[in-house]
Amino acid sequence: MKIVKHSFDGVIVGAGGAGLRAAIEAAPHMKLAVITKLYPTRSHTGAAQGGMSAALANVEEDNWNWHAFDTVKGSDYLADQPAVDILCKEAIDAVIELEHWGLPFSRLDNGKIAQRRFGGHTVKEGESPAFRACYAADRTGHMILQTLYQKCVSMGVTFFDEFQVLDIKIEDGICQGVIAYELATGDIHIFETRAVTFATGGFGKIFKVSSNAHSLTGDGPGILYQKGIPLEDMEFYQFHPTGIYRLGILLSEAARGEGGILRNKDGERFMERYAPSIKDLAPRDMVSRAIATEISEGNGAGPDSDYVYLDLTHLGAETIKKKLPDITDFVRTYVKIEPIEEPIPVQPTAHYAMGGIPTDVYSRVLSDEKGTVLPGVYAAGEAACVSVHGANRLGTNSLLDIVVFGKRAGQSMVDYVTQTKPNSISDSASDDLSKKIQNLIDKEHTDEFSVANIRKDLQESMEENAKIFRTKETLEKQTEILEELRDRYENVTIFDKSKVHNSELVEAIELDYLLDMSEATVASALARNESRGAHSRQDFPDRDDTNFMKHSFAFKKDNTANLKYKDVELGKYEPMERKY
Ligand code: FUM
Repeated sequence: MKIVKHSFDGVIVGAGGAGLRAAIEAAPHMKLAVITKLYPTRSHTGAAQGGMSAALANVEEDNWNWHAFDTVKGSDYLADQPAVDILCKEAIDAVIELEHWGLPFSRLDNGKIAQRRFGGHTVKEGESPAFRACYAADRTGHMILQTLYQKCVSMGVTFFDEFQVLDIKIEDGICQGVIAYELATGDIHIFETRAVTFATGGFGKIFKVSSNAHSLTGDGPGILYQKGIPLEDMEFYQFHPTGIYRLGILLSEAARGEGGILRNKDGERFMERYAPSIKDLAPRDMVSRAIATEISEGNGAGPDSDYVYLDLTHLGAETIKKKLPDITDFVRTYVKIEPIEEPIPVQPTAHYAMGGIPTDVYSRVLSDEKGTVLPGVYAAGEAACVSVHGANRLGTNSLLDIVVFGKRAGQSMVDYVTQTKPNSISDSASDDLSKKIQNLIDKEHTDEFSVANIRKDLQESMEENAKIFRTKETLEKQTEILEELRDRYENVTIFDKSKVHNSELVEAIELDYLLDMSEATVASALARNESRGAHSRQDFPDRDDTNFMKHSFAFKKDNTANLKYKDVELGKYEPMERKY
């Protein structure tokens, strides 16, 4: 296997919004590389649709404290409040900065950035839904990604596109570099570096029906987890209420922000029963649970009574064309329905990981529940858990998170690189990986141990046992299934033996991370004997602040996880009953 060696001061893994924003901050101060398994503008930030919240007050009175209140309440009080304050306060400058870099925001008639309503965002701590989400029609993430990438290109940032990072080398607690596999050639690349930011996104592909792209397999969290770094709050996985039925493709919450309504098979606006004050604009965990409940009580539509409708027909053609052009085109393309005239079949879709690599507010990775910093290693965006989303993220706060904490990751890299000396990494650093890859190529292919079959069984079983509603019984069942899947994975085989663009080989490696993410998720969910935010235990239906106002830290242990806990950082908002 050919080995190529590089030397950089800093490396960013992932070229979505968080990685690119970190790169813009770090690039002027160091020799920097961005390594990405995709072409940068194919990153999943581009799939984010409805908006990025900031209390600009362009439509009505607003301030960042109300944004923080909503974020903390939306999180079911598990978010760390000092981190939430940073997120909401820095949001305002972050939007203006993107505007100055050329992001084509939608506009109000007076020329100011347009703002729309989104779930859980309110005026005056719950009085009414707030116009807080800044947007570019329903392609806000796409525009953020293009804007940040153009900025990086104009700054001359060095990219390694279609390189899969496989390992980080840490010696005596100090980062030495990362090892990557080049998809186009099958060569191994050793990157000597002392500062690494992981901005690899989420891991929605642990579930069968997901809004996530195929590439979202938890690579950054997986690499660190296998090195003994814990994963925080993995039991909290968000289901977005409106995925296209069976396909999971996202239909933005902006549709409800613009006035769309959810209806059951009888045409009833059922959210009036679940969240009487803000109805369809309740936070996602509540709306997804309401849909799942409607379906389980026989109020679902269709031959299998397993979906509800998103009704946009009363919005009118002009609003739909102007404000929701992309999602309505998805519906025409994939469901063959005209959303101006007919309601759309939807179901909750696996969307966003609140949990991930633990970091502090400077995006520094923490190696334990006591807050010990891992020098030279950073994480931002969905791969990280700061924690600003707690048990349930509000829509539009992830586009915000990637720019606010991506920037902070870049700043922290600069601080670290200017205070340390270049290091060196041995030429043999990739030997174990080369052997692992060669073994995969040499092993004879069998169907039972194929990547596709093990992954399918993983996704179907996670969907069945660890989705919106969970119990001790379903989670124990899933623990056993995961053990069997892990045993099968030990013998995983691939059919494609080529060196050039061997995507099956990459998928075999990604499957290891998907299993890790699932094991940590299920173990953390099984231990949390309460219901909070997106973690809903039918056998423990109430929130239990006495015993569980704490973050879980899952450490990899054989095929499951060893759990430790850390107290939530509270602030000015006292935990209260979460009513909308
Ligand atoms: O519904 C949406 O447009 C998704 C936004 C988000 O996840 O923040």
